[in-house]
Amino acid sequence: MNRKVDDFRLRFGKQELIPIMIGGMGVDISTAELALEAARLGGIGHISDAMVPTVSDRRYDTDFVKEKLKKYKYNIDNTDKSAVKFDLGQIAEATRLHVSRTMEAKRGSGMVFINCMEKLTMNAPRETLKVRLHEALSAGIDGITLAAGLHLGSFTLMEDHPRFRDARLGIIVSSLRALQLFLRKNARLDRLPDYIVVEGPLAGGHLGFGMDWAQYDLATIVAEIQAWMSAEHLDIPLIPAGGIFTGSDAVAFLEHGAAAVQVATRFTVSTECGLPADVKQEYFKASEKDIEVNTISPTGYPMRMLKNSPAIGSGIRPGCESYGYLLDANGNCSYIDAYNREVALHPDAKKISVMDKTCLCTHMRNFKCWTCGHYTYRLKDTSHKLANGKYQMLSAEHIFHDYQFSSGNKVALPDAVAETFSHPA
Ligand SMILES: Cc1cc2nc3c(=O)[nH]c(=O)nc-3n(C[C@H](O)[C@H](O)[C@H](O)COP(=O)(O)O)c2cc1C
Repeated sequence: MNRKVDDFRLRFGKQELIPIMIGGMGVDISTAELALEAARLGGIGHISDAMVPTVSDRRYDTDFVKEKLKKYKYNIDNTDKSAVKFDLGQIAEATRLHVSRTMEAKRGSGMVFINCMEKLTMNAPRETLKVRLHEALSAGIDGITLAAGLHLGSFTLMEDHPRFRDARLGIIVSSLRALQLFLRKNARLDRLPDYIVVEGPLAGGHLGFGMDWAQYDLATIVAEIQAWMSAEHLDIPLIPAGGIFTGSDAVAFLEHGAAAVQVATRFTVSTECGLPADVKQEYFKASEKDIEVNTISPTGYPMRMLKNSPAIGSGIRPGCESYGYLLDANGNCSYIDAYNREVALHPDAKKISVMDKTCLCTHMRNFKCWTCGHYTYRLKDTSHKLANGKYQMLSAEHIFHDYQFSSGNKVALPDAVAETFSHPA
């Protein structure tokens, strides 16, 4: 029988949802608009807590980045960035603004979660993470997905928040070991995660694997985790992610006991996605050979991206006085070291190139690091190529419904716009 995703439901207590979750995509690639569409359609959407102060400046007309830069301008030529600290009050205000505005706009029976990355260490890892988690809860987010990092202490950071036991809290893992570690570290809290996203090696963004990612397979990791949880009598919804491209791919996981699926790449070419229109066309156009997994992210995790991303090889001055989200607890970032090394090697050069690392904050902020999922090269098959050579943008609703209702490994194309049929004179 050809089943559809719509034949399944995700259950959170009494609430029933369409088992489709759109994953978090920072920096503001999974926008509030995209997350709100998922919620309106009865599923789950994510906003991201990556670089929220700059997102807030762009969306809500605040001046957080300008104020930080003004305070630390004196330090721009200094290689030591340890003095560049975030103002916790400003992070709180930006998070509150982003989350509360999004939640006020929520319609429909679905949910909006926030993707919170541990690797955003912000020159004060514990303090800044605590503020981000607390403010998201206080501002009414439906749930928090702990991402990019091990998050061994994150539940403890939220323990004293009044919503700690009622908000939906989940974690992303890429191995059974990471899950076991998380559960062991948090055993004393008597509070299990409400869901576990199991992210395989074909996902976009940072990968929870080494450069040997191709040796791993999502279905195998999910089965391993499932078997262990069942032996431990743990009943927590499992949500596979990474490379689930069609409704039928999703059904295969749901039939094997997954509670829902998390998807992202298909939505990078939706109107509601935050990438600029010309970048969405790059995603549409990409072939398999145009995509790579590399190690230029200063986080230390491999990252998948389009090879023609302007971030690759860029030698811009580190932007820590404005951003600084990847500064570790001592104010270090591996891009700063790589940049300083190249400057020392080429003292007279006007412009340098840095190949081994990138200034991820500045480039993600400016949509110059085109991170993407493995199957990005299949996006061209999900839309129409127009007479002008561009691809027709899709609505998030169209993609969501395609996941929900398609079967037989098919992808529904959108209604063609008139331009599709126009011929050059
Ligand atoms: C453009 C892009 C940006 C992403 N950024 C993040 C992120 O900031 N945090 C995160 O946890 N996952 C991130 N991801 C991973 C997704 O949330 C999701 O788990 C994964 O991509 C699902 O696989 P799929 O893209 O093959 O559907 C990103 C994915 C993409 C495509």
